Parts: sequence; C-alpha cells; structure tokens
Amino acid sequence: QYEKEHHYKSHTYRGLQWCEYCGNFMWGIIQQGVQCVDCGLNVHKQCAKLVPNDCQPALKHIHHVFGVDLTTLVKLHSTQRPLVVDMCIAEIEKRGMDSEGIYRIPGFHDDVIELKAAFDQLGTEVNMTAYEDVNTIAGALKLYLRELPVPLLPYRLYSRFINAAKISHENGKLDAIRMALSATPGAHFETIKYLIQHLGRVSERSNENQMSAHNLGIVFGPTLLRAPENDVNQRYNLNDTQFQQEAIASMIGYRQHLFGLG
Ligand SMILES: *[C@@H]1O[C@H](CO)[C@@H](O)[C@H](O)[C@H]1NC(C)=O
Ligand SMILES: *[C@@H]1O[C@H](CO)[C@@H](O)[C@H](O)[C@H]1NC(C)=O
Ligand SMILES: [Zn+2]
Ligand SMILES: [Zn+2]
Repeated sequence: QYEKEHHYKSHTYRGLQWCEYCGNFMWGIIQQGVQCVDCGLNVHKQCAKLVPNDCQPALKHIHHVFGVDLTTLVKLHSTQRPLVVDMCIAEIEKRGMDSEGIYRIPGFHDDVIELKAAFDQLGTEVNMTAYEDVNTIAGALKLYLRELPVPLLPYRLYSRFINAAKISHENGKLDAIRMALSATPGAHFETIKYLIQHLGRVSERSNENQMSAHNLGIVFGPTLLRAPENDVNQRYNLNDTQFQQEAIASMIGYRQHLFGLG
C-alpha cells in the first residue's frame, strides 16, 4: 500500500488529551497539539515530526471525492486508483471511443457539475448510464484531474517533465521522462499509467475520433502538468504550454516503451 503523510492542523482540545505518539499529556489551555484532518490522529507538535507516514484516512473526516488529495482518496477507499478515474474510463471505453472530439469537446457545464456532485455524494453508486452524452463523462474526468490539489504529475516534478520535453533527441527525451515518472509517488504513478494507456487506446482510433496523441497532448498537457502557482519564475508558465503538450503526447505515443504493456 502507498505511504501517506499526515495532514496536521493546530488543535485546541477541551478536556484531557494525551499524545498518541509519546503517550504524554498535552499541556496548555489552547492549541495543545496538532490533529490530522484526514485520520484524526492527535499528537504533540514536536512529536508530529517523528510519526511515520502511515496516515489511514477515515470516512468521517473526508466527505468528497473531487478536490481531495489523490493518495488520501485511494487509501481511504483501499483502491489502487481513484474510483472516479476507473469508472469514467470504463464508460468511455464502452461507448466513447468512436466519438468525434472525445475529451476535446466539453460536456454541457451543468451536466458535468451534476456528475461531479453525484460522485461526491454517491461514490461508486453513481449510475453512469444516466449520463447519455459521453462528453459529460469525459468532462467530469478532466474536471476531477484539474481539481486535484496536487496534479497527477506533481508540482515538485514539474520542471523535470518540462525540461525532459525540451530535449530534441527522442531517446534522450524518453529517458528523461521515464526518470521523472519513476520519481512520481505510487498512487499518482498508477493513475497516470492507467490514464495514459487509456489515452493510447483512444489515439489508436483517431481516424474515427480525430484525437491523435498530439491532440490529446493539447487537451491534457496543462491539466496533468500544471505549473506551480506561486512559482517566483511565473514568466515561464506561458512559454511552457508547448512542452506540457509535448510531454503528454510523448507519454501517449511511447506508452509501451515508458510503461510496458498492459
Ligand atoms: C440508470 O439510468 C438509466 C437511464 O436513466 C436507467 O434506465 C436505469 O434504470 C438506471 N439504473 C439504476 C440502477 O438506477
Ligand atoms: C518566453 O518566450 C519569450 C518570447 O518567445 C522569450 O523572449 C523569453 O525568453 C521566454 N522565457 C523563457 C524563460 O524561456
Ligand atoms: Zn493522518
Ligand atoms: Zn507526544
């Protein structure tokens, strides 16, 4: 299973509270310690640094699917990948592979928002066949990826992917992309691998759906490889669009080389 850090917030306890790491009393009147917002663990502020990355999120602390950290969500549901990703991909593979402009054409905004709300409320109970327009499902999947607090290809690896995409020599580029992928955290890696393999199957039918690896790179580049927002070097964000697209298009085009078969 994937490692997950706790997500601490300073907390004021009413009544007696002991640290769940060292077992000692938490002294003081306010902000005696920190509490993990995902699993509810209570520890001293100093002890928090010593707790291993073994957070096991609990349902009573997390009420949504969209906008929740990816690793938190998969640990919560004990799945390999977020269920919303699997469910949308399964539905699109069932009835969207020949749909012209799939992923490029946005679904009707209200329908996409309704499907998002359904995922947040019902999880796996969502009735996918109730959403007739396959672009609604594609739109919900893109929205889910866009709303991830840490993108599928995490901020801290952003410049590694961009620099890889800038390499003009094809083998060098692929090696650099593979290296950056290998530094991607487990749950993120599983999800990107699954998504790229799906997008590869979409691109294989580009004579029907018009969505080549290049076109899918244009759609998914800025979503999967989002620039860090408070980067001091803001100016390079605009210039990067081409390389965001290139990185994703290369992953799709060379998916077997990068991820193996399956
Ligand atoms: C799902 O939606 C379809 C279409 O609206 C409907 O025919 C079907 O009965 C629904 N299935 C469930 C389990 O609610
Ligand atoms: C961004 O593009 C502009 C215009 O092409 C160029 O002058 C500038 O040097 C580029 N910035 C970076 C960081 O590459
Ligand atoms: Zn925790
Ligand atoms: Zn302690």
